[in-house]
Amino acid sequence: MMDAGRHPRIELLVNSEVEDVTGFVGNYRALVRRKARYVDTDACNSCAECAEVCPVAMPDEYQQGFSSRKAIYLPFPQAVPASYFLAAENCLGFKPIACGKCLEVCEKKCIDFDARDEVLDLEVGTIVVATGMEAYDPRPNDEYGYTRFPNVITSMEFERLICAGGPTEGNFLRPSDRQLPSRIGFIQCVGSRSASRGVPYCSNICCMNTIKQCLLLADHYPESRSTVFYLDIRAFGKGFEDLYRRTREEGVNYVRGLPGRIEEDPETHDLTVHVENTLSGTLERYELDMLVLATGLVPRKHNGNGHRSIDEILSLSHTSDGFVMEAHPKLQPVDAPSRGVYFAGCIESPKDVKDSVTQAGAAAARAGNVLSAGQVRIEAITAQLLPDLCAQCKICAQVCPFNAIVEASKKDDLLPDFIEAACAGCGTCAAECPFDAIHMRHFADEQILAQIEAILTDDPMQKIVAFACNWCSYAGGDTAGISRLQYPTSVRLIRTMCSGRVDQRFIWHAFRSGAPLVLVSGCHFSDCHYIDAVTWTQRRVEKVWTRMEKLGIRPERLQLEWISAAEGQKFARVMRELDRLLRQVTPDEVAETRQILQREEAKEQKKKAALAMTAAQTEAGEGARVEGNA
Ligand code: FES
Repeated sequence: MMDAGRHPRIELLVNSEVEDVTGFVGNYRALVRRKARYVDTDACNSCAECAEVCPVAMPDEYQQGFSSRKAIYLPFPQAVPASYFLAAENCLGFKPIACGKCLEVCEKKCIDFDARDEVLDLEVGTIVVATGMEAYDPRPNDEYGYTRFPNVITSMEFERLICAGGPTEGNFLRPSDRQLPSRIGFIQCVGSRSASRGVPYCSNICCMNTIKQCLLLADHYPESRSTVFYLDIRAFGKGFEDLYRRTREEGVNYVRGLPGRIEEDPETHDLTVHVENTLSGTLERYELDMLVLATGLVPRKHNGNGHRSIDEILSLSHTSDGFVMEAHPKLQPVDAPSRGVYFAGCIESPKDVKDSVTQAGAAAARAGNVLSAGQVRIEAITAQLLPDLCAQCKICAQVCPFNAIVEASKKDDLLPDFIEAACAGCGTCAAECPFDAIHMRHFADEQILAQIEAILTDDPMQKIVAFACNWCSYAGGDTAGISRLQYPTSVRLIRTMCSGRVDQRFIWHAFRSGAPLVLVSGCHFSDCHYIDAVTWTQRRVEKVWTRMEKLGIRPERLQLEWISAAEGQKFARVMRELDRLLRQVTPDEVAETRQILQREEAKEQKKKAALAMTAAQTEAGEGARVEGNA
């Protein structure tokens, strides 16, 4: 932090919030609100005289509430900039001035109650998002007495209590009586690995954090005894197993099993832990002075404080665990789906310091690559507007997951701007455009319609037209093939980059051309490579189902499946099931569907022709009026 603060090419904007980001890779424009600090950071020399006279006492967040701070304070000893900060919401000196003591004692006159927020307009080429995570809050699901027993603390609180800069100056004291505890218990996986008691994933850091804390206790207080209650110890990583072994050599007692009941002696505040040891199969009881909950990590809530959150601003999508989704979990682990945006640290998943530093280095390198190249290469699969067909309905801009379609930059132009550098080529805009005014390069309507026709030219009753997204379902088919899994040959795949590209027209065209069965298949919702494009697929297919029902066509003849790249088994199973369904469709049913759809198409054509005629008549009438006026 200190290095970053001193670096000549890094400008630190602390106490600031991003309010908006527009543009695209290489040309982002960010609006950043620098909140008023009320203290001149350059002039303040941290003499602390202001804090000494401040009459306000608030719980100190940095010390986990074990001590208090003033309304004007240094957030933490290593804070950069190393100057005091006035928390306006705690201060008595605002509207009307009721206090102002700090103002009087500050010799350097660095305090300014009239300071205002500043909104900075920054031009940036790339963006690294590193907004971190939050510790799991054990209070709502208080199974271990955290809210009831003073000597039950969290691992974060442990850190403050044993830290030399902490509220007890590094003396590890029990909150109830400020005595040194000698029997300390640790409960692992608090809030982790259980969907019903927190989050379903492993928080990654808690095992090694507890091991480190046990070693600290053994080092500072050799007479103390630590007991760890665990499900299993996950000590993977360089040197971690050695540390784990060292704790065992130091006498740390590992009990496999999570406590079922905690009791407290109301007089002494000592704790009794009841646990089933799943290794020995016995019910055991432990008398302890203090209990530390190894709480897990949860995704940070970005509330946006009245304006849009960073998730919305940058169109970040999330995996099912709530952490942000990368462009590709293996091949682009630090890239966001939007070009020029990168992730570092726990915003992406729970990780320790070493992994965070590694990822930060990777994100900086990725961002640096783009900036030093000065240009970006994109795949030639982007969307292109056909201006003659566009009716300016703006639906494309609403559905684009990457904000690649925006309002026209030229004043009198009503057509939207297509930013090709931001377009990822999912094709959702083209599928949703009611006027067919968007052309997808290499995945054009004509190309897909031609593939459908080619599939159904010979023996259509034996064919299933299946649209498969490139990243998951199509790759799932590959996995099935590589694994030599057998599935029927009736399935004919049409690859699209995303299931979001599958236009209703394609489905209707397939049925009109005699397809007995159609499959639309894409990634699972949290896996779609184009943020939320898959949600449009679902809505679209639901619309087609409704219309099929209305027209008297069996909706089962259109299937929707989510298959991931790793689900070769599922891909083969789905194809076998579809083949069974195919056998139930009769030639008469297909012929009737074709007739219904042809009738519908004829009606549509008639309607369009009537509309065109009315428009032409109106135009002619207006022309005559203009001539008459002239
Ligand atoms: Fe597979 Fe969007 S990328 S459905």
